[in-house]
Amino acid sequence: MDLKFLSEHQINNMLDMKTCIGLMKNVFTAFAEEKIENKLRSVFPVEAGKVFGVMPAVIPTEDVCGAKLITAFHTNHAKGLPSHLGIVAVFSNDDGQLLGICDGTAITAIRTGAVSALATDYMAKKDSHTMCLIGGGVQAVMHLKAITLVRDIKKVTVWCPTLAESEKFCETHKDEYPEIEFIPCEKCEDAVRDADIINTLTPSPVPVLFGKWVKPGAHINAVGACSKTTRELDSECVAKARLFCDNYDSCRNEAGDYLFPLNEGIIGESHIQGDLARVISGKVTARTDNKDITMFESQGLACEDVACAAWLLKQ
Ligand SMILES: NC(=O)c1ccc[n+]([C@@H]2O[C@H](COP(=O)([O-])OP(=O)(O)OC[C@H]3O[C@@H](n4cnc5c(N)ncnc54)[C@H](O)[C@@H]3O)[C@@H](O)[C@H]2O)c1
Repeated sequence: MDLKFLSEHQINNMLDMKTCIGLMKNVFTAFAEEKIENKLRSVFPVEAGKVFGVMPAVIPTEDVCGAKLITAFHTNHAKGLPSHLGIVAVFSNDDGQLLGICDGTAITAIRTGAVSALATDYMAKKDSHTMCLIGGGVQAVMHLKAITLVRDIKKVTVWCPTLAESEKFCETHKDEYPEIEFIPCEKCEDAVRDADIINTLTPSPVPVLFGKWVKPGAHINAVGACSKTTRELDSECVAKARLFCDNYDSCRNEAGDYLFPLNEGIIGESHIQGDLARVISGKVTARTDNKDITMFESQGLACEDVACAAWLLKQ
């Protein structure tokens, strides 16, 4: 078999963020029309701070099925490796043949930022100009790239566990975005207070974002906590927000940000206003006025990965 493999480097040269946002819009539109089969991921603990995930999906509109196999080892930075490593394998729905394999690190990185940008475009106020990045890793880079494509961002505040990391992030990116003022913050609260768009992008198991800091009208992309035992937002923050998910099943089974306040009795099941597919298709209105706090709970879906890989393998 002549197997096609696309490396991280090749993918980064082939797929730009704007194209990826368009691809993700197609995915969630097909989702709204119930044309995609997306199963919950299986997550296997490997050791403390290390998990292995299997994420399958069938996309009839693209005539493909496939799966991402991914490790999330948050200790990897000490070894000079990314925290997320993996592959996405794509098969033909026609004859079941393996069409190819793509690097999963590159796809995970770009599609996550792209989906948050899509959610932001539908949920954040049009005049959102200030953005906060909580976390300064791969997803912070991707969210900066993605959200500046959908809103005219003029100020970015950054909070990381150390001020040195926040300063380094700002220093690294300020020349690429000369129109943006970058502010590294020592306290997370200072980064959040004035932000129109807040992105939580850390593997923290306990809240880093507190509702009392969030101003009326803000939009939150909650991206980092992808298990029922971890959360980045406190219960007050979730309770104050109009909550939207990428997928109901994922949110109800995997999202600590939702499950902690639910189990504490602070919110009920009806607190989820809808999923991104329903928002995009116009079945649900994300924002009812300029004071609403909107929140997009991103768990990351297999269909996002398989759709990206299928597109790449067709090029
Ligand atoms: N929802 C999705 O689809 C999706 C996709 C990819 C990654 N993620 C998750 O998003 C998070 C960020 O991913 P990444 O690729 O940028 O990771 P990364 O390892 O590149 O960066 C992580 C950042 O979080 C900070 N951090 C680490 N531990 C922390 C803690 N306890 N408290 C506060 N900050 C802490 C680090 O200093 C760093 O700035 C991870 O939890 C990852 O699993 C979610």
